[in-house]
Amino acid sequence: MAILVTGGAGYIGSHTCLELLNKGYEIIVIDNFSNSKPESLKRVSKLSNKNFKTYQIDLLDKKRLDEVFSTNQFEAVIHFAGLKAVGESVNSPLRYYENNVTGTILLCEAMRKYGVQNLVFSSSATVYGSTNEVPISEETQLNAMNPYGRTKQMCEEILKDLYLSDQTWSISILRYFNPVGAHISGIMGEDPIGIPNNLMPYISQVAVGKLKHLTVFGNNYHTIDGTGVRDYIHVVDLAKGHLKALEKVLATKEIGVYNLGTGQGYSVFEMVEAFEKASGERIPYIIKDRRPGDVAICYANPSKARNHLGWKATRGIDQMCQDSWRWQQNNPNGYNEQAEKQNRREQPVFNHASDFFMPKT
Ligand code: WQD
Repeated sequence: MAILVTGGAGYIGSHTCLELLNKGYEIIVIDNFSNSKPESLKRVSKLSNKNFKTYQIDLLDKKRLDEVFSTNQFEAVIHFAGLKAVGESVNSPLRYYENNVTGTILLCEAMRKYGVQNLVFSSSATVYGSTNEVPISEETQLNAMNPYGRTKQMCEEILKDLYLSDQTWSISILRYFNPVGAHISGIMGEDPIGIPNNLMPYISQVAVGKLKHLTVFGNNYHTIDGTGVRDYIHVVDLAKGHLKALEKVLATKEIGVYNLGTGQGYSVFEMVEAFEKASGERIPYIIKDRRPGDVAICYANPSKARNHLGWKATRGIDQMCQDSWRWQQNNPNGYNEQAEKQNRREQPVFNHASDFFMPKT
């Protein structure tokens, strides 16, 4: 039986698909490609030398979602699909609630209908909001401060209530800290649409000359050098954390919430310095006011994931920057259109009955 990966073409989803295939799992991907490109799945196929079904559908399309479940056998679902830009969520809250919360409910309804009750859910450290308690443990009071974070907090509550109503479900909720980096091959990585909101992709685009300079949002926080401190975690460590959570949900009938972070915080200036070392490029910056909604310090207590999932991040800041830089240098325009047009030409014709395609290696 297969593992269904929703949002499998995304940054964390695609890296997790690769780890799943390399571990011997059969996968099926659904993605609406609203914030990702089929090219990422072609790279997954290339690196794993394996093919898999992909359905281009939206979780809100109940009929097509039902078709996916009625024509395939799943033993578990890893649910990444969702919108994740904090600023965008403030401007478009209804879109975020419909996409992230309603989408999760429809997915769970389809799972229940077809007797699939093993779920790994992609949550975020954003649910903690601004807390003075660092390192942050899973017991820290939740206090999401923006619509995106609130969609994740609501989904967590929904999943907890679902489990309490029927303890034959098995659910792992993973709260990511700051995912960065790329697969060591340099052919998979983060491909933000437009100007990056997040620090690492912004820095790497400055290093490759796509952007002029970095804007540092505030240097008057009570931190080591006045700039914001975050728990950056390598995307491959994060992907491997999902496999550990999948093993957990397949082996037990319980619900668990886990921080996926390194437990080590780095400031903006420390990240700039590490990236300059990894790339050999200077990262010019200007300092502006704090960004609304930012907290000073946020890093994880990752001991629960270590003790209950047998998972620990192993890749340090230097590898995060080296792997990011390799991806950025090899793919200055990410999964660019040219590669995608090339991929479409090679692509087998959609099978209208099941409307899926197999990315060719
Ligand atoms: C990191 C630090 C900024 C950009 C966000 C989302 C969170 C999660 C991860 C989804 C902060 C500073 C940033 C820049 C800067 N995503 N910075 N200049 O805000 O910790 O978390 O991404 O789940 O939901 O909120 O990450 O990378 O945006 O910021 O100075 O151009 O870098 O102030 O201190 P953040 P980030």
